[in-house]
Amino acid sequence: MKKFIILISGRGSNMGALLKAYKEGHLQAEPALVISNRSQAPGLETARSFGVRTEFISFKDGRAGEQRTIELAREVGAEFIVLAGFMRVLTETLINAFPNRIINIHPSLLPAFPGLHAQKQALDYGVRVSGCTTHFVNAGVDTGPTIQQRVVEVKPDDTEETLSARILAEEHGLIVETVNLLATNRLSTEEGREVTVLTADNADERR
Ligand code: GRF
Repeated sequence: MKKFIILISGRGSNMGALLKAYKEGHLQAEPALVISNRSQAPGLETARSFGVRTEFISFKDGRAGEQRTIELAREVGAEFIVLAGFMRVLTETLINAFPNRIINIHPSLLPAFPGLHAQKQALDYGVRVSGCTTHFVNAGVDTGPTIQQRVVEVKPDDTEETLSARILAEEHGLIVETVNLLATNRLSTEEGREVTVLTADNADERR
C-alpha cells in the first residue's frame, strides 16, 4: 500500500476524514505523517488521537520548510502529498520533488473563487451553485489541473457558515475518493491540463 503525508494549518477536518477512512479500511493508501505549519493547529491533536505521527515545520522560511517536508516525506516513504487546509502557496522546490503527486482540496468549483473565503466569494457573487474541487498543485493559487468536483446548491437564506458547512460535508467524501484514485494509479495528466480518471483495467496496466 502506498504511503502519503498530509499538510495542514488548522482544524484538519479533511485530514480527519482521511484518517477515519483509513482506520475503517476505506482508504487505499496509508497516511504516514501529518505536518502542520502552525504548532497549535487543532488538527495535530486529532492526528495524534488516530496514532499518526505529527511534525511542526514553521515554513517562515518557505524554502527550508519545503526542503524539510521533502526530507520527512522520503524518510517515511511517502509517494504523494495531500494539502488539506494548508495555508501556504508551494514553490517549485516541493512541486518538482513530487511531480503530479501533490493534491489540494478547495471549497469552490474552480476556476471560480480561488484563494481565501471562497464560500463568501460565492455568496457575494450570487451564484446558484458552488461546491468543492480537488486538483493537482502547481505554483499558482488554486490553479492546477482539476481532478474531481462536487456541486452544492446555494440556498437563498445561506450564510457563509451554512454554505461552508454543506460544502465541507462534501469535501470530506471527495478527498477520500480522490486519494483513492491517486493511490490506485487512476489519474493521468498526460494530456496537459486535463486529468483523466482511468478505469480499473487501464490503471492495472500502469502499475
Ligand atoms: C477546507 O474548506 C478546504 O477546502 C480549504 O481549507 C479548509 C480546511 O478545512 N482548503 P479543514 O482544516 O480540513 O477542516
